[in-house]
Amino acid sequence: MTGIFATAPGKIILFGEHAVVYGYPAIAVPVNQVRAKVLILPIPANKPDEVYIEAPDIHLNSHLNQLAFKDPLRIVIEEVQNILRLSYLPPMRIRITSTIPVAAGLGSGAAVSVALARALANYLGHPLPDETICQIAFRAEHSYHGTPSGIDNTVITYNQPLFFQKGKPYELLGVEKPFFIVIGNTGIASPTGEVVAEVRKNREQNPEKYNALFEKIGQIVLYARKLIEHGNVVDLGSMLTENHCLLKEMGVSCKELDILVETAIHAGAYGAKLSGGGKGGNMIALASSEKLPQITQALRDAGATTVITTEIR
Ligand code: MEV
Repeated sequence: MTGIFATAPGKIILFGEHAVVYGYPAIAVPVNQVRAKVLILPIPANKPDEVYIEAPDIHLNSHLNQLAFKDPLRIVIEEVQNILRLSYLPPMRIRITSTIPVAAGLGSGAAVSVALARALANYLGHPLPDETICQIAFRAEHSYHGTPSGIDNTVITYNQPLFFQKGKPYELLGVEKPFFIVIGNTGIASPTGEVVAEVRKNREQNPEKYNALFEKIGQIVLYARKLIEHGNVVDLGSMLTENHCLLKEMGVSCKELDILVETAIHAGAYGAKLSGGGKGGNMIALASSEKLPQITQALRDAGATTVITTEIR
């Protein structure tokens, strides 16, 4: 048997992070410039369940059984095995690489889960439908953080801009007029689970404040959806900045993110916000194509470690 390869994109949340965990809607889009990749190769071994995993980016080189039971990679592999009702796995080496920065709000964990589930199912000769791949990745998301909304695994599995609300079928977004998003990384790693847990604790202590913030974010998401569907890019930019102000009030921004947001707007973006869990990770800015070079340069000068541009269509 020859090797099998699968890949999955990164993602950004355009509107609605954190509120989406509490059942409010959100809008997310895939980012195909950064990707997780999984290659599975047969190995000469005469025992079953000789499964080795290597992920050089995180210095992992391990037998499957040496991974913790709650390790997301192990969860994905065992889920695929259970769904396919296989009592053992054939000997194989699984190689995982990714260009998606970790703990940066770009969905690195969900992308690895989606690519791994796809590659493994294909390797075993039973490709699984997207719906099943999405569910497998969602189970793995639980081990990254206890209460995922499911938006990351969904947008990454379907690789399309979408409107998402927990517990409801996702809806594909009709983008009337393509637009550009500049993504600037603060370089600060911030695991989503920790920020989500902090928001939960703060909400328990101050439910009125947090519920009001989620409600306002939910309204922005509904309005933003209309703007995307009608091609009103300028007002969409203002909504990004409004969403950022609410996330700031929620306590999930940080000095470095605020500086990148202000820098992007000052350099000509229609609007900007943090994206994902916050407290580090990435900032996104909406801009016309003419302004992209100057915004990119300004973000680099302000300390962004990487800047990429993606077109949403
Ligand atoms: C993570 O990309 C977005 C959050 O809303 C968490 C989640 O939805 O699971 C912060």
